[in-house]
Amino acid sequence: MNLLLPSTSLYGKPLLDRPLSFKWRRNGERVGVRAASIGSHKVRVHDRQRGVVHEFWVPEDQYILHTAESQNISLPFACRHGCCTSCAVRIKSGQIKQPEALGISAELKSKGYALLCVGFPASDLEVETQDEDEVYWLQFGRYFARGPIERDDYALELAMGDE
Ligand code: FES
Repeated sequence: MNLLLPSTSLYGKPLLDRPLSFKWRRNGERVGVRAASIGSHKVRVHDRQRGVVHEFWVPEDQYILHTAESQNISLPFACRHGCCTSCAVRIKSGQIKQPEALGISAELKSKGYALLCVGFPASDLEVETQDEDEVYWLQFGRYFARGPIERDDYALELAMGDE
């Protein structure tokens, strides 16, 4: 299908600095092309642990982490379902839609934290990876105010003996 595209968007931004289509591949084979009707945004991720900055385009209806991986960009993750917070970032500028981010509280979202595995770009974005377990401790640290629990092998042995 041929699309007639204007040379600028409604907002006066030139369209030529944006990708016109996205090719999707599965096991190295091209399986489809997405038309330019879906908006996309430039995402810049400062990976503080690895000391690198990634910049890539993400369609508005695609998860940021998945899109990065499809472009051979590796970012921190674990569960990939919005629960563990391993992929959490601090938003430096821009907005992320994250209605499926169950692992992060509304309070932390309002403070600028987001999960890339279930996050969609709502604008051009600049984010930075968190310190290890930063979001986890911000959310749950008050429940562990006495610090990590030490393993008690004797109590464990007693408990196992009861079964
Ligand atoms: S990878 Fe677990 S919350 Fe994103």
